[in-house]
Amino acid sequence: MSSENTSEEHGSSQRRAESAAASRTEWVARSPYEFAGLRAQLFREALAEYPNARRDDYYLMRKYLDPQPGDRVLGFGEGSGYFCGTIAKAVGPTGRYLITDPSPELVCSLPESVERLPQVQVTISPVEQLDIDAESFDKAWACGAFHHCPNQTEAFKRVYQVLRPGGRLVLFDVFQGTPLARHFDDCVARYCVTGHEVKFMSEEFARALCFLAGFPDANVEIVDVPHRLCFATEWDMGKFVYKMHAMTLFPGTLEERIQATVNGVKRHLTVERDGDGYVLHFDQKGIIARKPQ
Ligand SMILES: C[S@@+](CC[C@H](N)C(=O)[O-])C[C@H]1O[C@@H](n2cnc3c(N)ncnc32)[C@H](O)[C@@H]1O
Repeated sequence: MSSENTSEEHGSSQRRAESAAASRTEWVARSPYEFAGLRAQLFREALAEYPNARRDDYYLMRKYLDPQPGDRVLGFGEGSGYFCGTIAKAVGPTGRYLITDPSPELVCSLPESVERLPQVQVTISPVEQLDIDAESFDKAWACGAFHHCPNQTEAFKRVYQVLRPGGRLVLFDVFQGTPLARHFDDCVARYCVTGHEVKFMSEEFARALCFLAGFPDANVEIVDVPHRLCFATEWDMGKFVYKMHAMTLFPGTLEERIQATVNGVKRHLTVERDGDGYVLHFDQKGIIARKPQ
C-alpha cells in the first residue's frame, strides 16, 4: 500500500511537473511580449558572444541622438541593454535615462553597473502604455524595436506627449521595401522560434504617424542608417544572426541551421570582405522628429 502510495505520489508529482512545464510553455507562447524564453536567451547570447559585431551602432546612435550631460532620455525597446551603458554615461549624473521594455527577461538582465547609476531608471512596459509625466524628456530613442509595437499610432502619441517642447525623437527601424525587410519576411518569419509577425513602416506611414502625433511635417526627417555588422568569419556572422533571430525552426543540426542562416542572409543582404573580416549590411532607416517649441 505504502509503495503504491509512493508510486502514486511519484506519479502525481511527475504529472505536476509536466503540467507546470506545459503551463510554462503555454505562458511563454501566450505571453504579451515576444522576447521571452528561448527568444530572449538567444538574443542575449548573440550580443554576449559577439560584443563587437554592432560596434558601428554606437557611432550612429551618437550621430543622431547625441546624448549630452544633463539630457533626459527615454530609451524604449532597450531591454537588450546594448546602448544602455553608453547613453547612461553620456547623460551623466545630472541627466535622466529611463530604460523601458515589455520583456521582463531582457530587462532583468541589464548590467547591475548600469542599473545602479543615479541617472538610470528602469521600467517594464510597452512604450504605448508608459505611465510617465508629460513633457519630461528632452529626447526619446529606440533602435530596431518599433516594428514590434502592436499599436504604432498610440506609441507615437505617447512619445510625443512625454517630450518637452523642442524635444527630439530618434527612431531607427527596419522599413518596408528594403533588403532588410525582405530578409526578415523571407527568412526570419519562417524560422524564428516565435515567428516574426511585425509592422514595418513605409516612409509615408512613418510621416503619417509623426503627423498624427503632432510633429509638423517640416520637423520630420527620414534618414538612411547604414548599419554594418562586423565579423571575423562568415560562420560567425551566421551564428550571430541565427541567435539574434532565434531561428531554431531551421531543420537539422545546429551546424546545419547556422549554415542555412548564412545562405538565407545572403539571399537579400550584402556580405562583403573588409580587411581581415566580413561586413554584413543591415541597413535601417531613421525618423528624426522635433516637437515644436
Ligand atoms: C530586436 S530587439 C532590439 C533591442 C535593442 N533596442 C537593441 O538595439 O539591441 C526589439 C526590442 O523591442 C522590444 N519591444 C517589443 N514590443 C515593444 C513595445 N510595444 N514597446 C517597446 N519595446 C518593445 C522587445 O522586447 C525587444 O527588447
